[in-house]
Amino acid sequence: MKFFVDTADINQIKEAVAWGICDGVTTNPSLVAKTGKSFDAVIEEICEVVDGPISLEVTATDFDGMMEQGRALAKTKDNVVVKVPLTKDGIRATRAFTDEGIKTNVTLCFSAGQALLAAKAGASYISPFIGRLDDVSNEGMAIIDDIVTIYRNYEFTTEVLVASVRHPMHVVEAARLGADVCTMPPAVLDKLFKHPLTDIGLARFLKDWESVPK
Ligand code: E4P
Repeated sequence: MKFFVDTADINQIKEAVAWGICDGVTTNPSLVAKTGKSFDAVIEEICEVVDGPISLEVTATDFDGMMEQGRALAKTKDNVVVKVPLTKDGIRATRAFTDEGIKTNVTLCFSAGQALLAAKAGASYISPFIGRLDDVSNEGMAIIDDIVTIYRNYEFTTEVLVASVRHPMHVVEAARLGADVCTMPPAVLDKLFKHPLTDIGLARFLKDWESVPK
């Protein structure tokens, strides 16, 4: 399973890249807004340090606007993936981008039926938002199970990118279900490292090492 980091903060991205386990980056307008920088500045910073797929979202909601913004984003760097919302215009744009050889990440997916539409349009990635489903008392991970099964049934090439991840068990469960990618906020990536027995074990090893004759 590929690990993407879900942030537009360049320092957090650099840290994840330095660990050698970051396969790509996802951003959205809210994450860009948090940086306090212009979109162009954020794009430039991220493109400089990331070689894997970088999802950059269009903000236009009509087909022509999405095409114009998406084409411009795709020109920035070869690894840019144009993120489009799961709307009728978004699905139409996804098909058009695919036909032009531009990679897409269809975002704001909340059902298996929506994921089927994205696959039919030739999307490179589908982003089901599992945390936001959990927030409204729906089992987010259940749609990952459905989407993975459906895509396998028909050999769709669209990759299942688990998004809106809130804790390490979301990551583990996504891996268990065979999702292709999990994008996670840096705080979740950080928590994946942690286990109290690792800390206790390391402290004991270092203490015992002190008694070894030097
Ligand atoms: C990913 O592409 C999404 O932008 C992101 O995971 C949304 O997460 P949130 O529900 O925590 O905002």
